[in-house]
Amino acid sequence: MKTVLYPGSFDPFTNGHLDLVERAGQLFDRVVVAVAVNAAKSPMFTMQERCELIRLSCAGLDHVEVVAIDGLLVDSLDKYGAQAILRGLRAFSDFEYELQMALMNRTLRRNCETIFMMPTLKNSFVSSTLVKEVARLHGNFAEYVPPPVAAALRAKVGPEPR
Ligand code: PNS
Repeated sequence: MKTVLYPGSFDPFTNGHLDLVERAGQLFDRVVVAVAVNAAKSPMFTMQERCELIRLSCAGLDHVEVVAIDGLLVDSLDKYGAQAILRGLRAFSDFEYELQMALMNRTLRRNCETIFMMPTLKNSFVSSTLVKEVARLHGNFAEYVPPPVAAALRAKVGPEPR
């Protein structure tokens, strides 16, 4: 069975993330979405909320499993039987950070491969950070996130404008 670990903060899960999970399902038997701690970020949603929102957003996708991880990402690969890490690349600006992480992970664990996939053009500018900013400033955000996430954002920041 081919398994890939798809880590991220997912604060919150967006249509870009969903796009990648669906795409990865064409290549892997199992996609383990691993909600992880990014030490540089202060999340809006708790780990439990983020996991639950991903489960709701991926309902019906049989190849998807959602887990919360802590500690080093590379230590979760064996635990979940994953052969590789999956990360999304949207724009050139993502590249440097992703390259650093991929090489650091390979240093921490020999043979650790990171596979990059691009979302569809429509989702290529969507980021959790921008979605939260738009939501906090009461702009329209529903088209960028799955419906369960839109509902959770409304509960946090109030409704979008009419
Ligand atoms: O969605 P993000 O915030 O870009 O994801 C970054 C994440 C969570 C994948 C990264 O911070 C991470 O791997 N955290 C787990 C701890 C770890 O292994 N850090 C070293 C990364 S080289």
